[in-house]
Amino acid sequence: MPVILSADHVSKVFATGRGDPIVAIDDLSVDIEEGEFVCLLGASGCGKSTMLNMFAGFTQPTQGSVRLRGTPITSIEPRCGMVFQSYALFPWKTVRTNVEFGLKVRGMAKRERRERAQFFIDMVKLTGFEDHYPTELSGGMQQRVTLARLLATDPEVLLMDEPFAALDAMTRQVMQEELLRIHESSRKTTVFITHSIDEALILSSRIVVLSARPGRVKAILDNNLPSPRHVDVQLSPEYAELKKQIWDLVESEVRHHDDTQG
Ligand SMILES: Nc1ncnc2c1ncn2[C@@H]1O[C@H](COP(=O)(O)OP(=O)(O)OP(=O)(O)O)[C@@H](O)[C@H]1O
Ligand SMILES: [Mg+2]
Repeated sequence: MPVILSADHVSKVFATGRGDPIVAIDDLSVDIEEGEFVCLLGASGCGKSTMLNMFAGFTQPTQGSVRLRGTPITSIEPRCGMVFQSYALFPWKTVRTNVEFGLKVRGMAKRERRERAQFFIDMVKLTGFEDHYPTELSGGMQQRVTLARLLATDPEVLLMDEPFAALDAMTRQVMQEELLRIHESSRKTTVFITHSIDEALILSSRIVVLSARPGRVKAILDNNLPSPRHVDVQLSPEYAELKKQIWDLVESEVRHHDDTQG
């Protein structure tokens, strides 16, 4: 498959004005192929969100380049759609008008955008909740609305920054299965951030393990667990083996970080 998204020797340094500048990402290179589901896995503060924000064009690398189909991303890139960790819905809009929002901004006619919104509301199993407001929904339902809103605008790449981190374990599992199902049917290139090894193993086709800050590529692992995947995959010996392998990589990073950070 052709490369759709790439980071080429990317470094990102934040000058805070207080003390030394913070190196968030250091010489990170990765190529993401069309249709892949890549998880960026790393400890808190290692630069995951910073990297994703550069893919979205919210911020630019200090060195190196981030490219979409070979063209440098130098400003907010609408072809890379983002789901944030916080649900970020408009509280004064209903489920339907939240999902329609991006389509309305693009000037899509009312009837067409209503139909399109309904398609994705159905897809994330929120049929019947179209006229509800975000405060009337559970956390998992709200996150499904953000997913529907993103999918409705049909970005070329889905960027997801720990979208399920705030959910309880059961809801999280349901959401993971839903996302797997959506990925299997849409084959949309997805870059998904997590610090959960289990989540990375369940969702991804490839896992990029990052070092502790500054974020560098520690290892890239192919995840060949059977697909279509179901959470039952966690019971297999292959799963346990891969998990151990990743844990060994991550553990040394966490320890090293603890040692240097006090
Ligand atoms: N806008 C900013 N200005 C200054 N420093 C920043 C900025 N954004 C991030 N940083 C710093 O860069 C480092 C990486 O932050 P980042 O948010 O990318 O980490 P993360 O891997 O997403 O962590 P978490 O898992 O906790 O979300 C941190 O040390 C953080 O303080
Ligand atoms: Mg983050």
